Amino acid sequence: MFSVLDDAFEKKYAVPQFNMNGTIWLDTILKTAEECQAPVIVGTTDRIIEELGGFKLLVQTFNTKKEELKITVPAILHLDHGQSIESCFRAIDAGYDSVMFDGSNLSIEENIEKTKKVVDYAKEKEVTVEGEVGSVGGTEDGVYSDMLYADIDECLRLVNETGINSLAPALGSVHGKYRGEPNLGFNEMKDLRKTTSVPFVLHGASGISNEDLKKAISYGHAKINYNTELNIAWSNALRKVLNENPELYAPMEIIKPSKEAMAEVIKNIFKRTGAYQKKK
Ligand code: 13P
Repeated sequence: MFSVLDDAFEKKYAVPQFNMNGTIWLDTILKTAEECQAPVIVGTTDRIIEELGGFKLLVQTFNTKKEELKITVPAILHLDHGQSIESCFRAIDAGYDSVMFDGSNLSIEENIEKTKKVVDYAKEKEVTVEGEVGSVGGTEDGVYSDMLYADIDECLRLVNETGINSLAPALGSVHGKYRGEPNLGFNEMKDLRKTTSVPFVLHGASGISNEDLKKAISYGHAKINYNTELNIAWSNALRKVLNENPELYAPMEIIKPSKEAMAEVIKNIFKRTGAYQKKK
């Protein structure tokens, strides 16, 4: 994970994280990454880990899929929004490459204390850690939360006092669909960039324009997270095929157009983030 983000940070592109909501997603993400020769991060949100089969099964499935599909691009399994230290430890023990500890609802003191525990544990196993300051609002996995802008001093404290490998500063992006136009805090991004050289992570990237994306990458966002754009493509294609073919019940025929629709979105995102053809 480290070298993947470092390369992106240095060369001013970003590696997308695509969240998986089942093996259909995993299969499509890995195949498209290989086709595009792009490094990729597969995110599994802590909130739906049990539905996805649990940490151990996810690691086994991820590694087996990579082998079976003969994936040669860097492909990383990442715990998205780890809800507790214990969850992060379990993911690390199971063999995840990278974890995020989400201390966004904690005081900065508690966020630092818990993130540091995760970093210390992760380091021994060469697993990378992402931390968050402020709160990316919006709806994710059916749960709504308010948006809270990251405080720059708190961001610096989290970076310096924990040794995280990447920082997700909440600066105006939201999970799920935007109500109105996204309004990212570029001034804050610029100020924050001057104070630290840690790669940034942009959550809630679905719905952000190419222009804003480019700006965010220019300020050192080396990892950009997508879930909603894929899910919209998947659900629209699924609805269409079922509406147009009310007699159809063969699962593989039903899911084929939604996989193709997601692959198209993924390919487009690799191009927009600059990860396309960036295999090292
Ligand atoms: P979107 O809901 O905008 O796709 O964001 C996904 C995300 O940030 C996952 O952590």
